This record gives sequence, C-alpha cells and structure tokens, in this order.
Amino acid sequence: MARVRSVVIPAAGLGTRILPATKAFPKELLPLVDRPIIQYGVEEAAAAGIDRVVLVTSPGNNMTAAHFRPNPALEAVLEKRGKTESLALVRRVSELAELTTVRQEQPLGLGHAVLMGAPAVGGVPFAVLLPDDVIDADPPALRRMVELFDELNGPVLLVERVPRDAVNRYGIIEAAPLRPGVFEVRGLVEKPDPADAPSDLAIVGRYILTPDLFAVLERTGAGAGGEIQLTDGLRELLAKRRIYACELAGVRHDAGNRLGFLQASLYFALKRPDLAPALRAFLRTLE
Ligand code: UTP
Repeated sequence: MARVRSVVIPAAGLGTRILPATKAFPKELLPLVDRPIIQYGVEEAAAAGIDRVVLVTSPGNNMTAAHFRPNPALEAVLEKRGKTESLALVRRVSELAELTTVRQEQPLGLGHAVLMGAPAVGGVPFAVLLPDDVIDADPPALRRMVELFDELNGPVLLVERVPRDAVNRYGIIEAAPLRPGVFEVRGLVEKPDPADAPSDLAIVGRYILTPDLFAVLERTGAGAGGEIQLTDGLRELLAKRRIYACELAGVRHDAGNRLGFLQASLYFALKRPDLAPALRAFLRTLE
C-alpha cells in the first residue's frame, strides 16, 4: 500500500468556543508559548514522515499559510543583525513541509472541509489532523497510526477514553478489541447522549484515511449541528471496509476552548527548561 505522505489540516472553522479572540484572528495561530497551535501538529506530522500539508482555510485567511512559507525580508534582517538562533527558528518552520492551501468557502462542517482537500491529496491514503488537539506523545501519535495502517491495510482513527458525561462532545466508536490499545471499529456515532453512547472511546483529532472516503463524503448530508460530519462519512465507509482505532498513549490538550488553551500553554511552558523555573515560582505566588 502507498506510503502516507499528505496530511489534510482543516482550519476553516469559526472558532466560536474561544471568541472574541478568534473574531478576526485565526484560532490555529494563537500561540502556545512561542509557537502557533498549528505548528505543533505540523511538527507531529513531520515526525511521522508526512511532509505534504494540505491546509484548508477560510477565504480571507492568508496568515496561516504565511507562517509556513519563507519570509526572506525577515530572514535578511535577522542575518544582518547576527540573530542566528532566531533565524534558525524562523527557517525551520518553512522547512517542515511542502504546503498546499485550499479554501472552504463556508464552514459547512469537518467532513466538508476534508472533502475540499481531495484534489490536493489525489487517490492515495492520507492523514487528517485537527490542529486544536495538541498531542504530546512519544512516539508521536501519527507515527504509531501510520505503522498500524501499514500493518492492517485500513483506515485508523485515534481514540481516547473520556468521562461518560463528555461523550456528547465527540464522535464515539463501538469497538471490538484486537490487542491492547488497538480496536476494530464496529460502529460510529457523532455526539451521542451519554445514555445512548456505545462506549467511552472518543475520536480525537487524528485519522489515517483511504481515498474511497471522498466519494462517500460527496454524498454525506448534514448531520449533528447541521454540519457535514466526518463521523457520518466514516460510518458509511464502515459498511464497505474494515476500520481500526488506536488508543492514544500520551497527553492531549484541546486548545480550542478557553480552559484547554490555558492548560496547554502552562503544560508546554513547564516543559521548557528556559521558562519552567521562573514560571513555577510565579505560580506559587498565586496560590
Ligand atoms: P471544531 O468544531 O473544533 O472547530 O472543528 P470550530 O468549528 O472552528 O470551533 P468551535 O467549535 O466553533 O469553537 C475542528 C477543526 O475542523 C475545522 C476547524 O477549523 C478545526 O480546526 N473545521 C470545522 C473546518 O475547517 N471547517 C468546518 O466547516 C468546521
């Protein structure tokens, strides 16, 4: 089976959970410490050998793509001033991946956003990464998923156990265990009531998918919340082929809501030797 080389990153949503910060500014560019949220995801993909990014953005947003493109004027100034460390940081971002941008004219849902990536992906397997879900894992989550895809020859979803009262915020799978941490998916439902949920295994922002999904998404109508849901497309695909799930072994933050964003900021700052001691001391003064 073909190597997974492309990742579709949908970033054309409205970001209503973190307004007013995202009224004019793209959510995925909000910084966690000193890197935009989306850079964590692109670095994770690069660490999994995925070097083509298909970025799905809203019509007015040119900033997100610019973050991953070279900035010759800035580089020239940094070079002239001898700021070699900053120069290396800036250059590294534009060397992470080859970028293609596609537009989603209206935020019709995650399934629709993924479908917009179809021409850029072509007829080969691909990854989908939701930038809000920032994952710290070793090995990186996407790398484990690509390995599993190579072994099982079918789509792989990343799942995490969530509290029962939170299942109505996620796509939830019905699962048959294959071995520890690996499942075969038997059913999928988007945002179920806790009483109806088939399990507590929630799909979290990473997917390895096959191109036959695109034809299914073309036919998928609006579902929960009036949006074209990726979970609904996957449920239709499940009627045609086996789908697998892999349980997250690592830490995930949902940086797309206020509390999750703050927690992710502190989590990554406290992992930084240059910042952690002073930040810890400051946090103690607040207690
Ligand atoms: P979310 O539902 O988390 O993001 O979608 P949102 O819609 O931007 O935010 P809230 O819920 O209103 O706060 C997950 C990812 O899918 C993208 C979002 O940008 C986000 O990265 N998305 C969602 C699209 O690209 N298009 C859509 O139509 C919907």
